[in-house]
Amino acid sequence: MADILDRFQEDTSEPKAVDASKKLRIGIIGAGWIAEAHVRSYKLYEDAEIVGVCDIIPGKAKAFCEKTGIENAKCYDGGHKEMLDDESLKLDAVSICTYNCQHVPPAIYALEKGVHVMLEKPLCVTMDEAVELLRAEKKSGKVLSIGFQPRLDPNMQMIKKIVQSGELGKIYYIQTGGGRRRGIPTPYGTTFIEKDTGGLGALGDIGCYSLDMVLNAIGYPKPLTVSGYKSDFFGTDPNYTNYVKTGHPEYAEKFGVDDFAAAFIRLEGDIIVDFRISWAMNMNTAGDTLILGTKGGLRIPSTECWNGTTGGPMTIYHEVCGSQVETVVPVLPSPKEGLFALKIRSFMDAVKEGKPAPVPTSQIIYNQAILSGICESAEKGHEIEIEMPEI
Ligand SMILES: NC(=O)c1ccc[n+]([C@@H]2O[C@H](COP(=O)([O-])OP(=O)(O)OC[C@H]3O[C@@H](n4cnc5c(N)ncnc54)[C@H](O)[C@@H]3O)[C@@H](O)[C@H]2O)c1
Repeated sequence: MADILDRFQEDTSEPKAVDASKKLRIGIIGAGWIAEAHVRSYKLYEDAEIVGVCDIIPGKAKAFCEKTGIENAKCYDGGHKEMLDDESLKLDAVSICTYNCQHVPPAIYALEKGVHVMLEKPLCVTMDEAVELLRAEKKSGKVLSIGFQPRLDPNMQMIKKIVQSGELGKIYYIQTGGGRRRGIPTPYGTTFIEKDTGGLGALGDIGCYSLDMVLNAIGYPKPLTVSGYKSDFFGTDPNYTNYVKTGHPEYAEKFGVDDFAAAFIRLEGDIIVDFRISWAMNMNTAGDTLILGTKGGLRIPSTECWNGTTGGPMTIYHEVCGSQVETVVPVLPSPKEGLFALKIRSFMDAVKEGKPAPVPTSQIIYNQAILSGICESAEKGHEIEIEMPEI
């Protein structure tokens, strides 16, 4: 965890020069852990002003402002509605940093108020909520962008470039996912592991990134069917190593999500995705990501990929003049500004310049359909067809 935090700290260098004549008035919804990364990023840009922070835990917004050095922002203990109802704030945009089960209510409320939305990943928990959100977005005409910062990393962009260049030919099979051996995220409490707050476990925390990495590379084809599996053997065990280490065996009782999931997914265009994701398992890796095409195959060394890393140089396996050859793609340096800063900057640019959302819901709805499809299939115990309602 310390390593993860260190990487977030990287987001404080060399801000991009911006036109500060029009400052965006920003509100923060949910004053928890990830909200700090949003604040650090907004503070890099002269054309952003954080004017409001809200939470549902009394005193949390105020303590957050003191900790992060936000001056002159109004603080609210009554949640997103209280802040969004305060017209004196004149909000242009909000960052929604609430836990997964509280993504959609604030997002819809903000869009209905005519406020642009930067929403943390995953999109939400269920497809019903996702559809409701996309309809509200369409009606509002506002920017709704989803927090997939790895897309801004040159290594992730290289994967897409390689696929889109045609170097691999027609893509027909993808193996992807990622995993931790012991990594159920509970250092700051239980919002990630409870059904009523997290809603999804490893699937929503890190699975959505692995899916985004490959689906974005191949142009987000529509998912057709999924056969999914999920389990919770570690999370529900009071003797789970990290509960014992941190003195919290009672977390086992609270655990209501997946700590491991796997799926076989069929996509439009006759493409198969073989997927697995883990917060805890008796293995050191869930395997490399493999993208197989008719002209070449790409190996992306095992990665959790939330931070854009590839776990080492990628390799293209192809044939040159009848010989089987390998081309190594070196790891590219990450941008100095940091992925979180770039994520916030790209959202602000879309708002200021009237451009489409940098990470659009038209793509992420398919990511969500797969996550929700895995849960539905796992519960039913057989493959299911994915239905995509009209938005
Ligand atoms: N992009 C990334 O790299 C990244 C990293 C970590 C977490 N996240 C995502 O960010 C989200 C939050 O994660 P976190 O670790 O900060 O969680 P957290 O539990 O620390 O913080 C969430 C906060 O939201 C508050 N809240 C809940 N409902 C609210 C409402 N209606 N109005 C106002 N406040 C409300 C909670 O009281 C809590 O303080 C999750 O969805 C997670 O998936 C993204």
